[in-house]
Amino acid sequence: MTTAYKHEPFTDFNNEENRNLFQQALANVNEMMGKEYPLVINGERVTTDNTIVSYNPANKEEVVGKVSKANKEHAEQAIQAASEAFEDWRYWNPEERANILFRAAAIIRRKKHDFSALLVKEGGKPWKEADADTAEAIDFLEYYGRQMIELAKGKPINSREGEINQYVYTPTGVTVVISPWNFLFAIMAGTVAAPIVTGNTVVLKPASTTPVIAALFVEVLEEAGLPKGVVNFVPGSGAEVGDYLVDHPKTSLITFTGSREVGTRIFERAAKVQEGQMHLKRVIVEMGGKDTVVVDKDCDIELAAQSIFTSAFGFSGQKCSAGSRAVVHEDVYDQVLQRVVEITEEKIVGNPENADTYMGPVIDQASFDKIMDYVRVGNEEGRLMTGGKGDDSKGYFIQPTIFADLDPKSRLMQEEIFGPVVGFSKAADFDEALKIANNTEYGLTGAVITRNRKHIERAKQEFHVGNLYFNRNCTGAIVGYHPFGGFKMSGTDSKAGGPDYLALHMQAKTISEML
Ligand code: NAD
Ligand code: ALA
Repeated sequence: MTTAYKHEPFTDFNNEENRNLFQQALANVNEMMGKEYPLVINGERVTTDNTIVSYNPANKEEVVGKVSKANKEHAEQAIQAASEAFEDWRYWNPEERANILFRAAAIIRRKKHDFSALLVKEGGKPWKEADADTAEAIDFLEYYGRQMIELAKGKPINSREGEINQYVYTPTGVTVVISPWNFLFAIMAGTVAAPIVTGNTVVLKPASTTPVIAALFVEVLEEAGLPKGVVNFVPGSGAEVGDYLVDHPKTSLITFTGSREVGTRIFERAAKVQEGQMHLKRVIVEMGGKDTVVVDKDCDIELAAQSIFTSAFGFSGQKCSAGSRAVVHEDVYDQVLQRVVEITEEKIVGNPENADTYMGPVIDQASFDKIMDYVRVGNEEGRLMTGGKGDDSKGYFIQPTIFADLDPKSRLMQEEIFGPVVGFSKAADFDEALKIANNTEYGLTGAVITRNRKHIERAKQEFHVGNLYFNRNCTGAIVGYHPFGGFKMSGTDSKAGGPDYLALHMQAKTISEML
Protein backbone atom coordinates (compact mmCIF):
# COMPACT_ATOMS: atom_id res chain seq x y z
CA MET A 1 0.00 0.00 0.00
CA THR A 2 1.40 3.37 -0.97
CA THR A 3 0.51 6.55 0.88
CA ALA A 4 -1.32 9.33 -0.94
CA TYR A 5 0.87 11.50 -3.15
CA LYS A 6 2.05 14.81 -1.68
CA HIS A 7 4.67 17.01 -3.27
CA GLU A 8 8.15 17.08 -1.80
CA PRO A 9 8.50 20.03 0.62
CA PHE A 10 10.91 22.83 -0.27
CA THR A 11 13.86 23.52 2.03
CA ASP A 12 13.63 26.60 4.22
CA PHE A 13 17.01 28.26 3.80
CA ASN A 14 16.20 30.87 6.46
CA ASN A 15 16.81 28.02 8.89
CA GLU A 16 20.48 28.04 9.89
CA GLU A 17 20.73 24.28 10.17
CA ASN A 18 19.50 23.90 6.58
CA ARG A 19 22.00 26.51 5.42
CA ASN A 20 24.83 24.59 7.10
CA LEU A 21 23.68 21.31 5.59
CA PHE A 22 23.62 22.87 2.13
CA GLN A 23 27.11 24.35 2.61
CA GLN A 24 28.28 20.86 3.51
CA ALA A 25 26.63 19.47 0.37
CA LEU A 26 28.45 22.04 -1.77
CA ALA A 27 31.71 20.90 -0.14
CA ASN A 28 30.81 17.26 -0.89
CA VAL A 29 30.12 18.10 -4.51
CA ASN A 30 33.42 19.99 -4.79
CA GLU A 31 35.11 16.64 -4.20
CA MET A 32 33.53 15.15 -7.32
CA MET A 33 34.34 17.98 -9.74
CA GLY A 34 36.06 16.81 -12.92
CA LYS A 35 35.06 13.15 -12.52
CA GLU A 36 34.55 11.04 -15.64
CA TYR A 37 31.32 9.23 -16.55
CA PRO A 38 30.86 6.48 -19.16
CA LEU A 39 27.98 5.69 -21.52
CA VAL A 40 25.70 2.94 -20.25
CA ILE A 41 24.46 0.49 -22.91
CA ASN A 42 22.71 -2.69 -21.83
CA GLY A 43 24.14 -2.18 -18.34
CA GLU A 44 27.72 -2.10 -19.67
CA ARG A 45 29.99 0.90 -19.07
CA VAL A 46 31.44 2.22 -22.34
CA THR A 47 34.21 4.81 -22.18
CA THR A 48 34.98 6.79 -25.33
CA ASP A 49 37.95 8.94 -26.32
CA ASN A 50 35.64 11.80 -27.24
CA THR A 51 34.02 13.42 -24.23
CA ILE A 52 31.45 16.09 -23.51
CA VAL A 53 32.87 18.47 -20.93
CA SER A 54 30.39 19.99 -18.51
CA TYR A 55 31.49 23.40 -17.16
CA ASN A 56 30.22 25.43 -14.23
CA PRO A 57 28.49 28.43 -15.90
CA ALA A 58 29.36 30.64 -12.92
CA ASN A 59 33.05 29.75 -13.22
CA LYS A 60 33.89 28.57 -16.68
CA GLU A 61 37.28 27.24 -15.65
CA GLU A 62 35.70 24.69 -13.36
CA VAL A 63 34.99 21.34 -15.01
CA VAL A 64 31.97 19.71 -13.40
CA GLY A 65 32.58 16.43 -15.19
CA LYS A 66 33.59 14.72 -18.40
CA VAL A 67 31.07 12.41 -19.96
CA SER A 68 31.79 9.92 -22.72
CA LYS A 69 30.31 11.01 -26.03
CA ALA A 70 28.22 8.59 -28.05
CA ASN A 71 28.38 8.31 -31.83
CA LYS A 72 25.96 6.62 -34.24
CA GLU A 73 27.32 3.12 -33.50
CA HIS A 74 26.65 3.62 -29.79
CA ALA A 75 23.19 4.96 -30.61
CA GLU A 76 22.52 1.81 -32.66
CA GLN A 77 23.72 -0.45 -29.83
CA ALA A 78 21.54 1.46 -27.36
CA ILE A 79 18.44 1.04 -29.54
CA GLN A 80 19.12 -2.69 -29.93
CA ALA A 81 19.64 -3.08 -26.17
CA ALA A 82 16.42 -1.19 -25.44
CA SER A 83 14.56 -3.26 -28.00
CA GLU A 84 15.73 -6.57 -26.47
CA ALA A 85 15.08 -5.43 -22.89
CA PHE A 86 11.56 -4.42 -23.90
CA GLU A 87 10.60 -8.07 -24.53
CA ASP A 88 10.95 -8.81 -20.82
CA TRP A 89 10.31 -5.46 -19.17
CA ARG A 90 6.96 -4.98 -20.92
CA TYR A 91 5.54 -7.97 -18.99
CA TRP A 92 6.75 -6.93 -15.55
CA ASN A 93 4.11 -6.38 -12.94
CA PRO A 94 3.38 -2.61 -13.07
CA GLU A 95 3.55 -2.43 -9.28
CA GLU A 96 7.10 -3.80 -9.36
CA ARG A 97 8.01 -1.17 -11.94
CA ALA A 98 6.45 1.51 -9.73
CA ASN A 99 8.44 0.22 -6.75
CA ILE A 100 11.65 0.93 -8.64
CA LEU A 101 10.58 4.57 -9.00
CA PHE A 102 9.70 4.74 -5.29
CA ARG A 103 13.11 3.31 -4.36
CA ALA A 104 14.83 5.80 -6.69
CA ALA A 105 12.92 8.64 -5.02
CA ALA A 106 14.06 7.40 -1.61
CA ILE A 107 17.70 7.20 -2.72
CA ILE A 108 17.57 10.78 -4.04
CA ARG A 109 15.79 12.03 -0.92
CA ARG A 110 18.55 10.63 1.29
CA LYS A 111 21.16 12.70 -0.58
CA LYS A 112 18.85 15.50 -1.61
CA HIS A 113 21.17 18.43 -0.86
CA ASP A 114 24.07 16.74 -2.66
CA PHE A 115 21.97 16.47 -5.80
CA SER A 116 20.83 20.10 -5.46
CA ALA A 117 24.42 21.24 -4.86
CA LEU A 118 25.38 19.56 -8.13
CA LEU A 119 22.61 21.54 -9.87
CA VAL A 120 24.14 24.73 -8.44
CA LYS A 121 27.43 23.74 -10.07
CA GLU A 122 26.24 22.26 -13.34
CA GLY A 123 23.16 24.40 -14.01
CA GLY A 124 24.19 27.64 -12.27
CA LYS A 125 21.04 27.44 -10.14
CA PRO A 126 20.72 29.46 -6.94
CA TRP A 127 19.98 27.27 -3.89
CA LYS A 128 16.21 27.74 -3.91
CA GLU A 129 15.91 26.92 -7.61
CA ALA A 130 18.20 23.90 -7.29
CA ASP A 131 16.23 22.62 -4.30
CA ALA A 132 12.98 22.99 -6.28
CA ASP A 133 14.47 21.13 -9.26
CA THR A 134 15.48 18.16 -7.07
CA ALA A 135 12.08 18.21 -5.33
CA GLU A 136 10.37 18.07 -8.73
CA ALA A 137 12.49 15.11 -9.81
CA ILE A 138 11.40 13.25 -6.65
CA ASP A 139 7.79 14.29 -7.30
CA PHE A 140 7.80 12.85 -10.81
CA LEU A 141 9.02 9.49 -9.46
CA GLU A 142 6.47 9.40 -6.64
CA TYR A 143 3.57 10.66 -8.76
CA TYR A 144 4.11 8.49 -11.84
CA GLY A 145 4.63 5.41 -9.66
CA ARG A 146 1.22 5.92 -8.08
CA GLN A 147 -0.39 6.85 -11.40
CA MET A 148 0.87 3.59 -12.93
CA ILE A 149 -0.63 1.50 -10.15
CA GLU A 150 -3.99 3.11 -10.91
CA LEU A 151 -3.64 2.86 -14.70
CA ALA A 152 -2.80 -0.85 -14.46
CA LYS A 153 -6.35 -1.45 -13.25
CA GLY A 154 -7.59 -0.39 -16.69
CA LYS A 155 -10.69 1.72 -17.32
CA PRO A 156 -14.29 0.56 -16.96
CA ILE A 157 -16.20 -0.14 -20.20
CA ASN A 158 -19.53 -1.84 -20.86
CA SER A 159 -20.09 -5.58 -21.40
CA ARG A 160 -23.25 -7.06 -22.90
CA GLU A 161 -24.80 -10.29 -21.70
CA GLY A 162 -22.58 -13.24 -22.63
CA GLU A 163 -19.40 -11.24 -23.14
CA ILE A 164 -16.70 -9.80 -20.92
CA ASN A 165 -14.99 -6.68 -22.21
CA GLN A 166 -11.79 -5.19 -20.89
CA TYR A 167 -9.94 -1.98 -21.67
CA VAL A 168 -6.29 -2.16 -20.67
CA TYR A 169 -3.11 -0.20 -21.32
CA THR A 170 -0.05 -1.86 -22.83
CA PRO A 171 3.47 -0.47 -23.34
CA THR A 172 4.57 1.02 -26.66
CA GLY A 173 8.24 0.13 -27.15
CA VAL A 174 11.62 1.81 -27.44
CA THR A 175 11.39 5.39 -26.25
CA VAL A 176 13.92 8.05 -27.15
CA VAL A 177 14.15 10.68 -24.42
CA ILE A 178 15.78 13.99 -25.35
CA SER A 179 15.97 16.39 -22.43
CA PRO A 180 16.90 20.08 -21.95
CA TRP A 181 19.44 21.71 -19.64
CA ASN A 182 17.17 24.10 -17.77
CA PHE A 183 15.35 21.63 -15.52
CA LEU A 184 18.39 19.42 -15.79
CA PHE A 185 17.21 17.03 -13.09
CA ALA A 186 13.42 17.26 -12.98
CA ILE A 187 12.55 17.16 -16.67
CA MET A 188 15.25 14.63 -17.48
CA ALA A 189 14.12 12.34 -14.61
CA GLY A 190 10.41 12.83 -15.30
CA THR A 191 10.69 12.09 -18.99
CA VAL A 192 12.64 8.89 -18.20
CA ALA A 193 10.39 7.79 -15.31
CA ALA A 194 7.17 7.96 -17.36
CA PRO A 195 8.22 5.57 -20.14
CA ILE A 196 9.89 3.06 -17.85
CA VAL A 197 7.06 2.80 -15.36
CA THR A 198 4.66 2.20 -18.26
CA GLY A 199 6.78 -0.74 -19.44
CA ASN A 200 8.72 0.91 -22.24
CA THR A 201 12.49 0.97 -22.51
CA VAL A 202 14.57 4.09 -22.93
CA VAL A 203 17.48 5.55 -24.81
CA LEU A 204 18.36 8.76 -22.98
CA LYS A 205 20.17 11.62 -24.69
CA PRO A 206 20.51 14.49 -22.21
CA ALA A 207 21.45 18.07 -23.09
CA SER A 208 25.16 18.37 -23.78
CA THR A 209 25.55 21.25 -21.30
CA THR A 210 24.26 19.20 -18.36
CA PRO A 211 25.07 15.49 -18.78
CA VAL A 212 26.53 14.82 -15.30
CA ILE A 213 23.25 14.91 -13.39
CA ALA A 214 21.82 12.54 -16.01
CA ALA A 215 24.72 10.10 -15.53
CA LEU A 216 24.08 10.13 -11.76
CA PHE A 217 20.36 9.55 -12.26
CA VAL A 218 21.08 6.46 -14.34
CA GLU A 219 23.22 5.19 -11.42
CA VAL A 220 20.30 5.86 -9.03
CA LEU A 221 17.96 3.81 -11.22
CA GLU A 222 20.41 0.91 -11.26
CA GLU A 223 20.75 1.09 -7.46
CA ALA A 224 16.95 1.05 -7.24
CA GLY A 225 16.91 -2.27 -9.12
CA LEU A 226 16.27 -1.31 -12.74
CA PRO A 227 17.31 -4.23 -14.98
CA LYS A 228 20.00 -3.72 -17.58
CA GLY A 229 18.96 -2.41 -20.99
CA VAL A 230 15.82 -0.69 -19.69
CA VAL A 231 17.57 2.68 -19.65
CA ASN A 232 20.53 3.25 -21.96
CA PHE A 233 22.57 6.42 -21.58
CA VAL A 234 24.01 7.97 -24.75
CA PRO A 235 24.90 11.65 -24.44
CA GLY A 236 25.98 13.01 -27.81
CA SER A 237 25.53 15.64 -30.45
CA GLY A 238 21.93 16.52 -31.24
CA ALA A 239 22.62 16.59 -34.97
CA GLU A 240 24.40 13.21 -35.04
CA VAL A 241 22.98 11.04 -32.26
CA GLY A 242 19.68 12.92 -31.91
CA ASP A 243 18.70 12.58 -35.55
CA TYR A 244 19.84 8.95 -35.66
CA LEU A 245 17.69 8.01 -32.67
CA VAL A 246 14.66 9.93 -33.94
CA ASP A 247 14.88 8.35 -37.40
CA HIS A 248 15.49 4.79 -36.21
CA PRO A 249 12.77 2.35 -37.38
CA LYS A 250 12.73 0.64 -33.97
CA THR A 251 11.96 3.90 -32.15
CA SER A 252 8.29 3.83 -31.11
CA LEU A 253 7.98 6.94 -28.99
CA ILE A 254 9.98 10.15 -28.79
CA THR A 255 9.72 12.45 -25.82
CA PHE A 256 11.45 15.75 -26.34
CA THR A 257 11.62 18.91 -24.27
CA GLY A 258 13.53 21.85 -25.69
CA SER A 259 13.44 24.60 -28.26
CA ARG A 260 10.78 25.17 -30.90
CA GLU A 261 13.40 24.82 -33.63
CA VAL A 262 14.55 21.34 -32.59
CA GLY A 263 11.07 20.22 -31.49
CA THR A 264 9.46 20.94 -34.86
CA ARG A 265 12.37 19.25 -36.63
CA ILE A 266 11.83 16.11 -34.55
CA PHE A 267 8.08 16.24 -35.13
CA GLU A 268 8.61 16.33 -38.90
CA ARG A 269 11.30 13.63 -39.00
CA ALA A 270 9.33 11.29 -36.79
CA ALA A 271 6.40 11.42 -39.24
CA LYS A 272 8.44 9.74 -41.99
CA VAL A 273 8.01 5.96 -42.05
CA GLN A 274 11.46 4.42 -42.42
CA GLU A 275 12.28 1.20 -44.23
CA GLY A 276 11.41 -1.75 -41.99
CA GLN A 277 9.33 0.37 -39.63
CA MET A 278 6.20 -1.50 -38.51
CA HIS A 279 4.37 1.30 -36.71
CA LEU A 280 3.76 5.04 -36.61
CA LYS A 281 5.90 6.89 -34.09
CA ARG A 282 4.31 8.75 -31.25
CA VAL A 283 5.81 12.12 -30.40
CA ILE A 284 5.60 14.24 -27.28
CA VAL A 285 7.26 17.61 -27.84
CA GLU A 286 7.26 20.33 -25.25
CA MET A 287 8.84 23.51 -26.57
CA GLY A 288 9.30 27.20 -25.83
CA GLY A 289 7.17 29.97 -24.43
CA LYS A 290 6.68 33.71 -24.51
CA ASP A 291 4.66 33.95 -21.38
CA THR A 292 2.70 36.98 -20.21
CA VAL A 293 1.74 38.45 -16.87
CA VAL A 294 -1.37 40.59 -17.40
CA VAL A 295 -2.03 43.29 -14.81
CA ASP A 296 -5.55 44.65 -14.59
CA LYS A 297 -6.60 48.10 -13.35
CA ASP A 298 -8.19 46.78 -10.18
CA CYS A 299 -5.33 44.85 -8.58
CA ASP A 300 -2.93 44.63 -5.65
CA ILE A 301 0.04 46.62 -7.02
CA GLU A 302 2.61 44.94 -4.76
CA LEU A 303 1.36 41.47 -5.73
CA ALA A 304 1.50 42.45 -9.41
CA ALA A 305 5.09 43.70 -9.10
CA GLN A 306 6.26 40.66 -7.14
CA SER A 307 4.56 38.31 -9.61
CA ILE A 308 6.19 39.99 -12.61
CA PHE A 309 9.58 39.99 -10.91
CA THR A 310 9.46 36.31 -9.89
CA SER A 311 8.12 35.18 -13.26
CA ALA A 312 10.77 37.09 -15.18
CA PHE A 313 13.94 36.50 -13.21
CA GLY A 314 13.66 33.13 -11.42
CA PHE A 315 16.62 31.04 -12.66
CA SER A 316 17.74 34.01 -14.77
CA GLY A 317 14.58 33.79 -16.90
CA GLN A 318 15.69 30.43 -18.27
CA LYS A 319 12.35 28.70 -17.80
CA CYS A 320 9.96 27.88 -20.61
CA SER A 321 7.35 29.21 -18.19
CA ALA A 322 9.20 32.51 -17.61
CA GLY A 323 7.03 35.62 -17.70
CA SER A 324 9.16 37.52 -20.15
CA ARG A 325 6.45 40.05 -20.91
CA ALA A 326 4.19 42.15 -18.74
CA VAL A 327 1.05 43.71 -20.17
CA VAL A 328 -0.22 46.33 -17.77
CA HIS A 329 -3.38 48.46 -17.71
CA GLU A 330 -2.45 52.08 -18.44
CA ASP A 331 -3.96 53.35 -15.16
CA VAL A 332 -1.47 51.36 -13.04
CA TYR A 333 1.36 51.00 -15.59
CA ASP A 334 3.81 53.54 -14.13
CA GLN A 335 3.27 52.38 -10.56
CA VAL A 336 3.73 48.69 -11.36
CA LEU A 337 6.75 49.31 -13.57
CA GLN A 338 8.46 51.48 -10.96
CA ARG A 339 7.91 48.91 -8.23
CA VAL A 340 9.30 46.03 -10.36
CA VAL A 341 12.41 48.12 -11.02
CA GLU A 342 12.85 48.75 -7.26
CA ILE A 343 12.46 45.06 -6.35
CA THR A 344 14.89 44.06 -9.10
CA GLU A 345 17.56 46.52 -8.03
CA GLU A 346 17.47 45.19 -4.44
CA LYS A 347 18.36 41.63 -5.45
CA ILE A 348 21.81 40.09 -5.53
CA VAL A 349 23.18 38.72 -8.79
CA GLY A 350 26.30 36.61 -8.56
CA ASN A 351 27.77 33.26 -7.66
CA PRO A 352 24.92 30.83 -7.04
CA GLU A 353 27.05 29.03 -4.44
CA ASN A 354 26.38 31.95 -2.08
CA ALA A 355 23.24 31.51 -0.03
CA ASP A 356 22.06 35.08 -0.60
CA THR A 357 22.34 35.11 -4.38
CA TYR A 358 18.97 35.59 -6.03
CA MET A 359 20.12 35.19 -9.62
CA GLY A 360 23.14 33.35 -10.99
CA PRO A 361 24.59 33.09 -14.50
CA VAL A 362 23.03 32.02 -17.78
CA ILE A 363 24.00 28.61 -19.04
CA ASP A 364 26.77 29.15 -21.61
CA GLN A 365 28.50 31.48 -24.04
CA ALA A 366 25.94 30.90 -26.82
CA SER A 367 23.09 31.86 -24.47
CA PHE A 368 25.02 34.85 -23.15
CA ASP A 369 25.65 36.14 -26.68
CA LYS A 370 22.05 35.57 -27.77
CA ILE A 371 20.59 37.33 -24.73
CA MET A 372 23.00 40.29 -25.07
CA ASP A 373 21.86 40.59 -28.70
CA TYR A 374 18.29 40.87 -27.45
CA VAL A 375 19.41 43.57 -25.01
CA ARG A 376 20.72 45.50 -28.02
CA VAL A 377 17.37 45.00 -29.76
CA GLY A 378 15.58 46.12 -26.60
CA ASN A 379 17.56 49.34 -26.53
CA GLU A 380 16.31 50.09 -30.04
CA GLU A 381 12.71 49.00 -29.43
CA GLY A 382 12.01 50.24 -25.91
CA ARG A 383 13.16 52.22 -22.86
CA LEU A 384 15.80 50.58 -20.66
CA MET A 385 14.68 50.85 -17.03
CA THR A 386 17.38 48.80 -15.30
CA GLY A 387 20.12 46.27 -16.08
CA GLY A 388 21.30 45.86 -19.65
CA LYS A 389 24.87 44.85 -18.88
CA GLY A 390 26.61 41.52 -19.04
CA ASP A 391 29.99 40.16 -17.94
CA ASP A 392 31.32 36.89 -19.33
CA SER A 393 34.87 37.21 -18.02
CA LYS A 394 34.51 34.54 -15.29
CA GLY A 395 31.01 33.15 -15.81
CA TYR A 396 28.03 34.12 -17.94
CA PHE A 397 26.42 36.87 -15.86
CA ILE A 398 23.73 39.23 -17.16
CA GLN A 399 21.97 41.82 -15.03
CA PRO A 400 18.22 41.44 -14.69
CA THR A 401 16.97 43.77 -17.40
CA ILE A 402 13.68 45.62 -17.85
CA PHE A 403 12.50 47.38 -21.00
CA ALA A 404 9.40 49.57 -20.94
CA ASP A 405 7.01 51.01 -23.55
CA LEU A 406 7.36 48.23 -26.09
CA ASP A 407 5.11 47.77 -29.07
CA PRO A 408 3.25 44.46 -28.47
CA LYS A 409 4.45 43.30 -31.90
CA SER A 410 8.10 44.17 -31.24
CA ARG A 411 10.69 41.39 -31.30
CA LEU A 412 11.22 41.70 -27.57
CA MET A 413 7.53 41.04 -26.99
CA GLN A 414 7.31 38.19 -29.51
CA GLU A 415 10.48 36.08 -29.41
CA GLU A 416 11.62 33.71 -26.68
CA ILE A 417 14.76 35.26 -25.19
CA PHE A 418 15.37 32.64 -22.48
CA GLY A 419 17.28 35.01 -20.25
CA PRO A 420 16.76 37.69 -17.59
CA VAL A 421 15.00 40.22 -19.80
CA VAL A 422 11.39 41.35 -19.38
CA GLY A 423 9.43 43.71 -21.63
CA PHE A 424 6.50 45.93 -20.63
CA SER A 425 3.61 46.99 -22.88
CA LYS A 426 0.71 49.23 -21.94
CA ALA A 427 -2.93 48.22 -22.53
CA ALA A 428 -5.86 50.65 -22.68
CA ASP A 429 -8.27 48.16 -21.11
CA PHE A 430 -8.67 44.48 -20.22
CA ASP A 431 -9.87 43.60 -23.75
CA GLU A 432 -6.69 44.93 -25.23
CA ALA A 433 -4.57 43.27 -22.53
CA LEU A 434 -6.04 39.85 -23.38
CA LYS A 435 -5.57 40.46 -27.09
CA ILE A 436 -1.89 41.25 -26.56
CA ALA A 437 -1.47 38.27 -24.23
CA ASN A 438 -2.67 35.98 -27.05
CA ASN A 439 -0.70 37.60 -29.85
CA THR A 440 2.35 35.29 -29.97
CA GLU A 441 2.82 31.91 -31.61
CA TYR A 442 3.30 30.35 -28.17
CA GLY A 443 0.74 29.33 -25.56
CA LEU A 444 2.52 27.87 -22.57
CA THR A 445 1.84 29.81 -19.35
CA GLY A 446 0.22 33.06 -18.36
CA ALA A 447 -0.89 34.94 -15.26
CA VAL A 448 -3.54 37.55 -14.59
CA ILE A 449 -3.37 39.85 -11.59
CA THR A 450 -6.83 41.22 -10.90
CA ARG A 451 -9.53 41.63 -8.28
CA ASN A 452 -12.24 41.69 -10.94
CA ARG A 453 -14.20 38.40 -10.87
CA LYS A 454 -15.72 38.97 -14.32
CA HIS A 455 -12.26 39.44 -15.77
CA ILE A 456 -11.06 36.23 -14.12
CA GLU A 457 -13.92 34.31 -15.73
CA ARG A 458 -13.24 35.92 -19.12
CA ALA A 459 -9.54 35.10 -18.96
CA LYS A 460 -10.37 31.47 -18.14
CA GLN A 461 -12.20 31.32 -21.49
CA GLU A 462 -10.11 33.63 -23.64
CA PHE A 463 -6.48 33.50 -22.48
CA HIS A 464 -5.18 30.59 -24.59
CA VAL A 465 -2.35 28.98 -22.63
CA GLY A 466 -1.79 25.52 -21.22
CA ASN A 467 -1.12 26.78 -17.67
CA LEU A 468 -3.11 29.81 -16.55
CA TYR A 469 -2.59 31.31 -13.10
CA PHE A 470 -4.46 34.05 -11.23
CA ASN A 471 -2.95 36.42 -8.70
CA ARG A 472 0.44 34.72 -8.65
CA ASN A 473 3.49 34.21 -10.84
CA CYS A 474 3.36 32.11 -14.02
CA THR A 475 6.29 29.79 -13.11
CA GLY A 476 6.68 26.96 -10.63
CA ALA A 477 4.15 24.32 -11.64
CA ILE A 478 4.10 21.44 -9.17
CA VAL A 479 3.77 17.81 -10.22
CA GLY A 480 0.31 16.46 -9.50
CA TYR A 481 -1.02 19.95 -8.68
CA HIS A 482 -0.39 21.96 -11.85
CA PRO A 483 -0.01 19.51 -14.78
CA PHE A 484 2.29 21.27 -17.21
CA GLY A 485 2.29 21.72 -21.00
CA GLY A 486 1.46 24.28 -23.64
CA PHE A 487 -0.76 25.14 -26.60
CA LYS A 488 0.14 26.40 -30.08
CA MET A 489 3.87 26.29 -30.87
CA SER A 490 4.65 25.50 -27.22
CA GLY A 491 4.06 21.83 -27.96
CA THR A 492 1.71 18.89 -27.83
CA ASP A 493 0.19 19.95 -24.48
CA SER A 494 1.17 16.61 -23.00
CA LYS A 495 0.72 17.79 -19.41
CA ALA A 496 3.76 16.45 -17.57
CA GLY A 497 2.89 15.67 -13.96
CA GLY A 498 -0.78 15.23 -14.81
CA PRO A 499 -3.30 12.39 -14.79
CA ASP A 500 -3.22 11.86 -18.59
CA TYR A 501 0.54 11.82 -19.05
CA LEU A 502 1.30 8.12 -18.62
CA ALA A 503 -1.43 7.06 -21.05
CA LEU A 504 0.44 8.97 -23.78
CA HIS A 505 3.21 6.40 -23.38
CA MET A 506 0.87 3.43 -23.79
CA GLN A 507 -1.46 1.75 -26.25
CA ALA A 508 -5.01 1.09 -25.13
CA LYS A 509 -6.18 -2.43 -25.92
CA THR A 510 -9.78 -3.61 -26.03
CA ILE A 511 -10.29 -7.27 -25.16
CA SER A 512 -13.66 -8.93 -25.70
CA GLU A 513 -14.31 -12.55 -24.67
CA MET A 514 -17.52 -14.50 -25.30
CA LEU A 515 -18.65 -16.63 -22.39
P1 NAD B 1 17.42 22.59 -27.38
O1 NAD B 1 16.29 22.40 -28.31
O2 NAD B 1 18.60 23.31 -27.86
O3 NAD B 1 17.95 21.18 -26.85
C1 NAD B 1 17.08 20.23 -26.25
C2 NAD B 1 17.65 18.85 -26.49
O4 NAD B 1 17.59 18.56 -27.89
C3 NAD B 1 19.11 18.71 -26.08
O5 NAD B 1 19.28 17.43 -25.50
C4 NAD B 1 19.83 18.80 -27.42
O6 NAD B 1 21.08 18.15 -27.43
C5 NAD B 1 18.84 18.06 -28.32
N1 NAD B 1 18.99 18.27 -29.76
C6 NAD B 1 19.56 19.31 -30.41
N2 NAD B 1 19.49 19.12 -31.75
C7 NAD B 1 18.85 17.94 -31.94
C8 NAD B 1 18.46 17.20 -33.09
N3 NAD B 1 18.69 17.61 -34.33
N4 NAD B 1 17.80 16.03 -32.92
C9 NAD B 1 17.52 15.59 -31.68
N5 NAD B 1 17.89 16.24 -30.55
C10 NAD B 1 18.54 17.40 -30.68
O7 NAD B 1 16.80 23.26 -26.07
P2 NAD B 1 17.55 23.69 -24.73
O8 NAD B 1 18.38 24.89 -25.05
O9 NAD B 1 18.19 22.52 -24.08
O10 NAD B 1 16.34 24.11 -23.80
C11 NAD B 1 15.75 25.36 -23.84
C12 NAD B 1 14.44 25.32 -24.58
O11 NAD B 1 13.61 24.32 -24.01
C13 NAD B 1 13.65 26.60 -24.48
O12 NAD B 1 13.08 26.90 -25.72
C14 NAD B 1 12.57 26.26 -23.46
O13 NAD B 1 11.41 27.04 -23.57
C15 NAD B 1 12.31 24.82 -23.77
N6 NAD B 1 11.70 24.12 -22.63
C16 NAD B 1 10.40 23.77 -22.73
C17 NAD B 1 9.78 23.13 -21.65
C18 NAD B 1 8.33 22.72 -21.73
O14 NAD B 1 7.89 21.93 -20.91
N7 NAD B 1 7.57 23.26 -22.67
C19 NAD B 1 10.50 22.86 -20.49
C20 NAD B 1 11.86 23.22 -20.45
C21 NAD B 1 12.45 23.85 -21.54
N1 ALA C 1 7.48 23.28 -14.54
C1 ALA C 1 8.27 24.46 -14.71
C2 ALA C 1 7.55 25.71 -14.29
O1 ALA C 1 6.36 25.69 -14.17
C3 ALA C 1 8.77 24.58 -16.10
O2 ALA C 1 8.18 26.70 -14.09
